[in-house]
Amino acid sequence: MQNYRNSNLIIESNKVTPDKITWKCPSNIALIKYWGKYGLQLPRNPSLSFTLTHANTETSITYAPKSEYGISFDFYFHGNKRDDFKPKIQNLLEKTIEIFPFLKQLHLTIESTNSFPHSAGIASSASSMAAMALCLCSIEEKLFKPIGSQEEFYKKASYVSRIGSGSACRSIFPIASIWGEFAEIKAASNEFGIPAENLINPVFQTFHDDILIVSKEEKTVSSTAGHGLMEGNIYAENRYQQAKTRMHFLLMAMKSGDLETFGQIVEDEALTLHALMMTSNPSFLLMRPGTLSIIERLRTFRRETKIPAYFTLDAGPNVHLLYPEQFSDVMDEFIRDELSKYCDNYVIKDMVGKGPELI
Ligand code: PMV
Repeated sequence: MQNYRNSNLIIESNKVTPDKITWKCPSNIALIKYWGKYGLQLPRNPSLSFTLTHANTETSITYAPKSEYGISFDFYFHGNKRDDFKPKIQNLLEKTIEIFPFLKQLHLTIESTNSFPHSAGIASSASSMAAMALCLCSIEEKLFKPIGSQEEFYKKASYVSRIGSGSACRSIFPIASIWGEFAEIKAASNEFGIPAENLINPVFQTFHDDILIVSKEEKTVSSTAGHGLMEGNIYAENRYQQAKTRMHFLLMAMKSGDLETFGQIVEDEALTLHALMMTSNPSFLLMRPGTLSIIERLRTFRRETKIPAYFTLDAGPNVHLLYPEQFSDVMDEFIRDELSKYCDNYVIKDMVGKGPELI
């Protein structure tokens, strides 16, 4: 068990110069889905994701000493004070206060912007919690000493991100990341993500992910509630086993560059996630008619053109189209001519990316 609690991280004098730290962090899209958790956001099965580029959150934390002792912060989203966003951040700060005890001595002004509209139906908790975690680790380094090597810094940031939102721990790493114990990869852990860039063929390192926004509505089930529903789901145990088996075969396919096997497993995973939600009690049907139309059109297109373009889904109606870089022009045309009519006027053209950036 990793233990980052450190009661020595206390500011001795009140002579801290106010300062500001900014990180930009991308979102990620899971290929093997994390669905089901226990304890402090520990996953029931291993997951694997692509780190994205354009769907990201930029967060700045300005910190200044204060005389009273306790967690205190203000939160601004796109320049507007948003107290309604505070509980998630309060939760992260409370749960990590023994890791960063100095936070009780500071007042934080947190300013955040998303590269995509908040109402686009895209979960921003992965990129926002990872950006927050990176800022907290950087503040620790500014006030005390370096956390360690770059690898150690990112490992700690990933651990802290996980506490904010499980899947956020995978956003820390470039290209791809694995989170959750998996016998074949000794370094894999339930407590933090690890880089998976070196485990995959170059064809995947420039993969595109076009996010087709079928509905901009807020999700009807929060991911915490969704994970919770797995506890009573009769398929749960089989599902956790299945995720491990799929992880094995997906990694083999991604290593060799076998696009067909990759696509089959990724689509099966997306539909399994939705099947689990449909068979939960209460049941949730998060796909919309447009989601199914896009999937059907994509499958026909693939059969006719032999272009290796596949879909995945998050816990919502929007479709992620995954395909190699070389098909980007023809995919643009296909989306414009045949798929955009199912979208709520919005497509985010994203791709696998380099991971977070200190601004
Ligand atoms: O990190 P959470 O608690 O928002 O859960 C994310 C769950 C999925 O996005 C559906 C799957 C995943 O692995 O990212």
